Amino acid sequence: MSSTMAIGIDIGGTGIKGAVVDLSTGKLLSARVKLPTPRGGRPADIIETTRALLATVSAEEGAGAVPVGICFPAIVKNGHTMSAANVSDKWIGLAAEKLFEKGLGHPIHFVNDADAAGYAESQFGAARGVDGVVIMTTLGTGIGTALLNDGVLVPNTELGHLQIEGVDYETKAAYSAKERENLSWEKWAGRLQKYYSTVEALFSPDLFIVGGGVSKHHQEFLPLLRLKTPIIPAVHRNNAGILGAAALAVKHGV
Ligand code: BGC
Repeated sequence: MSSTMAIGIDIGGTGIKGAVVDLSTGKLLSARVKLPTPRGGRPADIIETTRALLATVSAEEGAGAVPVGICFPAIVKNGHTMSAANVSDKWIGLAAEKLFEKGLGHPIHFVNDADAAGYAESQFGAARGVDGVVIMTTLGTGIGTALLNDGVLVPNTELGHLQIEGVDYETKAAYSAKERENLSWEKWAGRLQKYYSTVEALFSPDLFIVGGGVSKHHQEFLPLLRLKTPIIPAVHRNNAGILGAAALAVKHGV
């Protein structure tokens, strides 16, 4: 068994995905397994689905005893989930890392999903070797953000919930809003313009990275944005959370 092998699991509002990762290359060593997030997103149901997913993933590549990292769409502070934007609010204040470890029968490292994605891009993707302030945003069910300075992650930034014109702006500019309201690329880009200009004015970043599944269509919307900061697609898109969760588990010696 290679010491650079780990399992990453990315829990989202709609799906739970996992795979075995080779951390020397940032490549997946197994098929990516995906199960739907149980309706309601309640703790016991999500932990049970994650247990089933981990059993399937660990059966691959003889990955039974490797480190496991899990990322989740909430503020994660000392192993506790402190918010719940697209899952049940029963998660708020929960000792989630301990509950997962009990339910899975395996030690884990537990982090915010966008932080995992940003860390993955800093190690294996678009932010690799980039100095200065990098802001990674994931456009999906919500907007996740990761702030990196000279490659060092500042966790739990939650900039998806910036209030712009009096609204929590992820409800307007996440990819789910485009789908829900059937917005054209141009209409959606108008909202993204407002969002990224606001973040730019507040943080003066050196680089924006845009992830989430929709970033594979980046030609449709990134060229429409007018910003001072370069804005580029993520390299790992939908796998960034898996890669980052796995890499952080190894970094933290789980
Ligand atoms: C949550 C964040 C999460 C993001 C992406 C937001 O609604 O508050 O914690 O990173 O969605 O899933």
